[in-house]
Amino acid sequence: MAMNKIKIGFVGAGWMGSVQLKRLTERDDVEVLALFEVNKERGAEVLKSVGLSPSLLVTDYNHIVNNPDIDAVWLVSPNSFHAPQAIAAMKAGKHVFSEKPAATTFADFCTEIKLEKANPKLITFVDYILYFDSMEQRLRDMVAAGDFGDITQIQINYRHPVNIAGDKVWKLNKNIMGDAIGMGINHAISVMIFAMASQAKPIGVYATSMPAKVRGFEADPIWNIMIHFDNGSTGFCFGNIDNGNGYDAFHSLYGTDGAFAFDSQQPRPNKVRYWSSSLTQGKWIFPLDRKQCEEQGLENCIWPDDTTTPDSGNVVEHQTGSAVGHFIDCIKNNAKSPLSFVNSQVIGEIGWAAQISAAVKQPVALPLDWTNAERFFENH
Ligand SMILES: NC(=O)c1ccc[n+]([C@@H]2O[C@H](COP(=O)([O-])OP(=O)(O)OC[C@H]3O[C@@H](n4cnc5c(N)ncnc54)[C@H](O)[C@@H]3O)[C@@H](O)[C@H]2O)c1
Repeated sequence: MAMNKIKIGFVGAGWMGSVQLKRLTERDDVEVLALFEVNKERGAEVLKSVGLSPSLLVTDYNHIVNNPDIDAVWLVSPNSFHAPQAIAAMKAGKHVFSEKPAATTFADFCTEIKLEKANPKLITFVDYILYFDSMEQRLRDMVAAGDFGDITQIQINYRHPVNIAGDKVWKLNKNIMGDAIGMGINHAISVMIFAMASQAKPIGVYATSMPAKVRGFEADPIWNIMIHFDNGSTGFCFGNIDNGNGYDAFHSLYGTDGAFAFDSQQPRPNKVRYWSSSLTQGKWIFPLDRKQCEEQGLENCIWPDDTTTPDSGNVVEHQTGSAVGHFIDCIKNNAKSPLSFVNSQVIGEIGWAAQISAAVKQPVALPLDWTNAERFFENH
């Protein structure tokens, strides 16, 4: 029996969008039926460059929402459009792939969650792409296996001067970008929450922020976010999208039986190190340094050469193929993604809670009290 291809309506063929569109065209189980791109010239060029007909370009988003043949909408537009476009698509019964952030207003964030709960057949996804990095997968598995014992402290940074070159200058505009946490710092938060998921849940946030020092961001681009977990452990995230020298996704985890550190800016064999009472007899090892592991007699701690690490801000080097494949598989298997609007709700809530906390200079409890948060964001 011929397989039914999943029909996609694609939105936003910019820097990230053109890479994802390419990944979609490389698959034989999907068909792109339409592209909505406000920059028509770019839209036509990108379609051509990925081997699709420029006639797929539509001039109105409603042509995607109202097209009964389209199964899923793929949103890679600037941040403030994600939620209105996602909400319209969900109301029309379409699955939604959304670039992060899911929403730039708290009211829209709540609507997305409510819509997904009311329409359990809809598959949704927020592209916290580091979930698909193979080092992050290993880290999650190692924490879950107890290789570091009980985690007591975890730090994940996201310091990376986000790309505002050329027409990406919208990222400086608060109304379009939203808050800086949604612009990438939420990647670090997603890593932390998933690394801890087997051991603890976040129960509170305390955050401070700072205005831009280097570039013209209207929203504070510098954040310090402390997260309290229900087992007493603490997480910390230094976030800075204003400036930096390269990509800093520094990780530091401490547990009762081991520790893990990742320094994205070290040369590859030294980027990752860990120790574990059970796996390394308490010795620090560099799992990407085959020779050193062999010298220590710890061959079984060596990680494969194709292990990816989260150390580039270049979207071409991201795990876009895995993210695309995962979402398509979720639709085919009628399975919820761990990154659905509802399943990643806590990551979004940490971002909203951090904003409230920074403004009121108090810790904010999780799960977020939506009534209080609604009241806060009506006035901010
Ligand atoms: N996951 C990641 O690591 C990652 C990396 C880069 C970008 N992103 C996300 O991807 C999205 C796009 O970012 P980018 O860097 O590709 O920006 P970009 O400016 O290069 O691309 C945005 C595109 O959307 C088009 N556009 C503008 N308004 C639109 C509208 N109303 N509807 C449809 N299209 C519209 C623009 O013409 C442009 O081509 C952002 O949400 C960003 O957060 C994610």
